This record gives sequence, C-alpha cells and structure tokens, in this order.
Amino acid sequence: MSITYKDAQGIAGMRVACRLAAEVLDYLTPHVKAGVTTNELDRLAHDYMTQVQGVIPAPLNYQGGGDVPFPKSICTSINHVVCHGIPSEKALKKGDIINLDITVIKDGWHGDTSRMFIIGEASVAARRLVTVTYEAMWHGIVKVKPGARLGDIGWAIQRFTESNGFSVVREFCGHGVGRKFHEPPQVLHYGRPGTLEELQPGMTITIEPMINAGKRDIKEWGNDGWTIVTRDHSLSAQWEHTVLVTPTGYEVLTLSAGSPAVPDFVHATAT
Ligand code: MF3
Ligand code: CO
Ligand code: CO
Repeated sequence: MSITYKDAQGIAGMRVACRLAAEVLDYLTPHVKAGVTTNELDRLAHDYMTQVQGVIPAPLNYQGGGDVPFPKSICTSINHVVCHGIPSEKALKKGDIINLDITVIKDGWHGDTSRMFIIGEASVAARRLVTVTYEAMWHGIVKVKPGARLGDIGWAIQRFTESNGFSVVREFCGHGVGRKFHEPPQVLHYGRPGTLEELQPGMTITIEPMINAGKRDIKEWGNDGWTIVTRDHSLSAQWEHTVLVTPTGYEVLTLSAGSPAVPDFVHATAT
C-alpha cells in the first residue's frame, strides 16, 4: 500500500471522524478518577461511540500485526505501560497516570487520538513526564507543512525529549490514517532533519510519541499479545493527534472542546 492523499471529500470525512474521537475523550474525562476500573471506562466509551455517536470503535477485534485480535474498544495504558493496554477489572488509584487511546470509524474514515490523565495528585516526576510528552507531540506537529520531511518531525520530538532527560520509544510510531487505521507512512518520533518522506497537502498522519522516564527499551508484558511495558519499569506517557497537511501548514483534526490548551510556543510558530 502507498500513501493516500485525501481530496476535499476525504478531508471532510476525516474532520468529522477525528472530532468524534476527541469527543469520546471529553465524555470520559469526568469518569477518569480513583476507583473506576478500566473495564468501566471501556464500557462507557463503547456505549457512547455506538449508541450516541453512531461510530465503530476501531480497536475492537482489530487484528494488527499479531495473531490475537484486540479484545476491547479502547486502549488503557497505566504507569509503566507504554501502549496497547487492555481494559481490565483493575481500578485506577491516586498517583496513577493513564493514557486513553480512542480510534473511531465514521463513514469509513478513522479518527485516532489519545490523552494522558493524572489520577489525584501524582508525583512531580510523573506530572513532568506527562507535560514534556504533550509538548514533545506539539514540537512535532508544528513542523508539519508541505515540503517538510518526516525526519524533521522525528528530530524535533527527539531533541526536545532528550534535552529534558527522557527517552523516545523506537518500536512504535505514528502513521498515515484514513480509510485504514494504519496506513503508510510510518511517522517515527526520532530521526534527523531533512530525511525521509516529504509531506504533501492531503496527507493525514498521526503524531503520537511514547516517552519513557527511564530508558527507551520496551518489552511485551505477559502473553496477552498486546500490552507493551518499559523494560526498566519506569513510567511512560503518550499523547496523540491526527493532523492534516494543508497547503500552508497543518490542521489538527482531533481537537474538541475538552482538548487541553495548546502550548505557548505553538502560537509563535502558527501557520
Ligand atoms: N490507537 C493506536 C494507535 O494510535 C493503535 C491501537 S491498536 C489496538 O495507533 F488494537 F490496540 F487498538
Ligand atoms: Co495512532
Ligand atoms: Co491511537
């Protein structure tokens, strides 16, 4: 498969799907607190998506690369879980950090976005990891414009992350997104400026850095076929937006009323 470029109709479809994905996070936000189980969050999200929004939860039964289909409607990745955490009967507790990753399909288009949540009062270190990861994602986003290269995005994220003493996970990356959940190109969150694919208007990609407080190495946890954890058991955080390459720069498609404020440095580079 090769990179897909969305026409006006495709862009319109992506705008709707992406806004709906972000609105699932808005809907879940008041429920993300100590005592709630990740199964309860999954059930709330599933019912909201299917009964209120009329969308399909893309993760449910998603095959991915392995042999085990993903068994739930959202990904819930707590503390040292890097990504693809499977909702369970485990309850959130004060001090946890959790990523909720939502992908919806609306009229055949995929919207993919995730946010971090801090349960009660997390440690200073945990809060700093969450903030640095959020800003790292935005350092990547502001690089998006026609003629820029994927390596520019990866480099911006890596430089900012490592200058803050954290590390970038290498094994998982952002991706093209559209009629398929995961399309080319791969969007690495590390790299060198001026390298890799050139961005062109109509591309829709995700930028979704996974940042570890400790070393960058990861491993599969247990035998559920999905859960990825940090090898050194350090905390990991992730944020994700779906972004359209426009003729002049970028449009973040997965924004909603509840999206956290855009970092100040973004306004200075706004296109
Ligand atoms: N939403 C994830 C991403 O950002 C992919 C999750 S695959 C799943 O690409 F099957 F675990 F849902
Ligand atoms: Co994604
Ligand atoms: Co995602």
